[in-house]
Amino acid sequence: MSATLIVHGGTPLVGDIEVRGAKNLVSKAMVAAVLAEDRCRLRGIPEISDVQVVSGLLELHGVAIDSTDEDGELLLDPTDVAQAQIAAIDAHAGSSRVPVLLCGPLLHRLGEAFIPDLGGCRIGERPINYHLDVLRQFGAQVEKRPEGLRLTAPAGLSGTKVTLPYPSVGATEQVLLTAVRADGRTELRNAAIEPEILDLIAILQKMGAIISVDTDRVIRIEGVERLGGFDHRAIPDRIEAGSWACAALATRGDIYVRGAQQGPMMTFLNVFRKVGGAFDIDDEGIRFWHPGGPLSSIVLETDVHPGFMTDWQQPLVVALTQTTGLSIVHETVYENRMGFTSALVDMGARIQVYRECLGGLPCRFQQENYLHSAVVSGPTPLRAAEIEVPDLRGGFSYLIAALAADGTSKVHGSELIYRGYERFSEKLDALGADYQLD
Ligand code: EPU
Repeated sequence: MSATLIVHGGTPLVGDIEVRGAKNLVSKAMVAAVLAEDRCRLRGIPEISDVQVVSGLLELHGVAIDSTDEDGELLLDPTDVAQAQIAAIDAHAGSSRVPVLLCGPLLHRLGEAFIPDLGGCRIGERPINYHLDVLRQFGAQVEKRPEGLRLTAPAGLSGTKVTLPYPSVGATEQVLLTAVRADGRTELRNAAIEPEILDLIAILQKMGAIISVDTDRVIRIEGVERLGGFDHRAIPDRIEAGSWACAALATRGDIYVRGAQQGPMMTFLNVFRKVGGAFDIDDEGIRFWHPGGPLSSIVLETDVHPGFMTDWQQPLVVALTQTTGLSIVHETVYENRMGFTSALVDMGARIQVYRECLGGLPCRFQQENYLHSAVVSGPTPLRAAEIEVPDLRGGFSYLIAALAADGTSKVHGSELIYRGYERFSEKLDALGADYQLD
């Protein structure tokens, strides 16, 4: 069911909100529980639809899940893990890409795994070739069937040497979740080292895994025979924190984000400061605000950690429409994450997108046909419009644009935003946003 937000723009967002566990850690932490032989406890879990989808998926596989409101606690009991029907997985998984990460754990626990065709945000092809190549290297056999993929491991899974073609977050997690119980040692080169991955490694270590991370993107894992449960508080959501920071800048507001942490956001904070945003860090969170006066344009490239996250790019571009001069943004992680800019242009922004790698080093999309660089010219006042949410981050960005714009906008399909932004209408209320649900 499509939900429409009627947004009356032009009011600065001012107030206090809180971010809890990171969406991009929580689903993987829940999958890790499938490897455990005891109960697991996750804390700080946000109320986002992704968590509901993964809970349902795990329940289909026999994991008993209990949640309490207290501190967003999730209790997972994987004692009776069992095979699920592929039709049920397919019907349930929807756009989630989590089923592919269940492969390693299910192969260890049950000797086989089924996965449906995967969905995801409309930000690029998002293939799973790295995942399948990695699983084959561990000894899995992949059989393509009309209803999906069936994986088996007749001789069990054995440690291996893997070099990823690109430091993919998902493929790195795939290696971790498979190698921890594989026979022998695994060496992973060109690994992704996002803070959410390090948090997953911390969970696996609590469970009994032996994993070391070198400074040169090399992760080494020694397989163990048994993994126990864990008790873990999820790392806070730095994408959500950065999104609210951009909302403060674009609406000339002032937002205190409780739970935001400096370490995982260092690259974001540097960019925020270069653009002219102000922030103040304390032990509980970070306050972000527009200090008044003109903002500065910048040249920016998205990249894997420790680079500027691709997920911060869309909300930041909205703020860049309010900077003076020309900003250049080169998206190097996803080939198709600039599509959302056309609606901003309809709202009065001056943004041109290019196939060339602008402003940075040539990326994987050089000589390809993807519009993956943008030039933003500002400042331009934004005017109200009727907009359709394209994907999670693009959707939040449209919301920011509508809140910054003069007049009343209609944002259709806003339910997508709940996939990654918990209690977001409550937070809009807390920040004084003027809007209503149609
Ligand atoms: N890729 C392949 N083949 C693969 C896997 C990835 O070509 O088998 C490519 C992708 O197409 C993309 C690049 O590698 O061009 C990076 O993809 P990655 O595997 O790193 O992304 P992911 O694991 O699918 C996670 C987050 C994304 C976030 C990216 C990058 C989750 C659930 N999703 O996706 O988050 O953008 O890492 O940091 O953790 C979001 O939160 O809105 C979101 C899209």
